Amino acid sequence: MKKLILDIDTGIDDAMALAYSAGAKTIDLIGVVGTYGNVYTQQSVQNTLNILDMIGKVDIPVYEGEPHAIAKNNFKRSEIGKKIHGQNGIGEVELPQAKRTKEAKSGVNFIIDSVKKYGKDLVIAATGPMTNLGVALKEYPEMAKEIGQIVIMGGALTIPGNVSPFAEANISQDPEAAKLLFESGSPIIMAGLDVTMRSILTQKDTQKWRQISKVGEKYADIVDYYIHIHDETAPTVKGCPLHDPSAIAAIIHPELFDMLPLAMTVETEGPSVGRTIGITEKIREKTPNVKTCINVKKGAVAKDMCDTMAILYAGT
Ligand code: RIB
Ligand code: CA
Repeated sequence: MKKLILDIDTGIDDAMALAYSAGAKTIDLIGVVGTYGNVYTQQSVQNTLNILDMIGKVDIPVYEGEPHAIAKNNFKRSEIGKKIHGQNGIGEVELPQAKRTKEAKSGVNFIIDSVKKYGKDLVIAATGPMTNLGVALKEYPEMAKEIGQIVIMGGALTIPGNVSPFAEANISQDPEAAKLLFESGSPIIMAGLDVTMRSILTQKDTQKWRQISKVGEKYADIVDYYIHIHDETAPTVKGCPLHDPSAIAAIIHPELFDMLPLAMTVETEGPSVGRTIGITEKIREKTPNVKTCINVKKGAVAKDMCDTMAILYAGT
């Protein structure tokens, strides 16, 4: 069974990706790295620990990732991030404090050591800024050839971005790291807005979670906050997009997606900073390193995630 590392900025859709991957029977979640983005890195680590405690996955270690983008020396949460995910990142829902704390090893070292240990059997899913991967690649460039798969939630190829007409949020936080990753030659699947905006969860789904267990109820409280914010800020969505869970679905069920093989890069300056785009000089490459998800089977990601979560909730 493939080993999975989740590299997340634990806001609400990251929290769904966490439960989805922890509950999936066909992949082994060996660790989680908390990073900045929706929240500060420390909050991401704490949210992750609290959620894993709540769902009874206390044997999955949690590591602290980088606190800010490679080209910056600090990070400040955006007001829109606070609004969409809540002050605490999980929709203002209070969870009991986890009984354990983060691991002593850094998130970047955990990533590098895991690549060395598991090689092609390792998959990393990044659902926040790609800084940890960028730093790991700088420190251990061989990782690009040795790793099995990297899946990112980030970018947009066929539709505009969500923080600018060109940029999606995770790429926009650290375009330099994302560029480094794309151009490293690592085998990448990009689950960007092209597909995440096509997979929607509604309160009909979260209502079912409430009937399963107390944990299902807590998750429903968290995700309903996210749905309500989308009703206010993006009413045409009619629910919430499954951004980060789509990255997990692309690992577990790649057959649900149409993927375009393409050598890609990220623009790091100018008006289109943060744009994810094909590299003209490499357009004829036979085996480009990126597979970009451009379509997904309607309703399939929500169904698979809810089926997985229902089993997880029932066991709590
Ligand atoms: O653009 C969507 C991404 O930005 C998701 O990963 C979400 O959690 C936020 O980080
Ligand atoms: Ca995220």
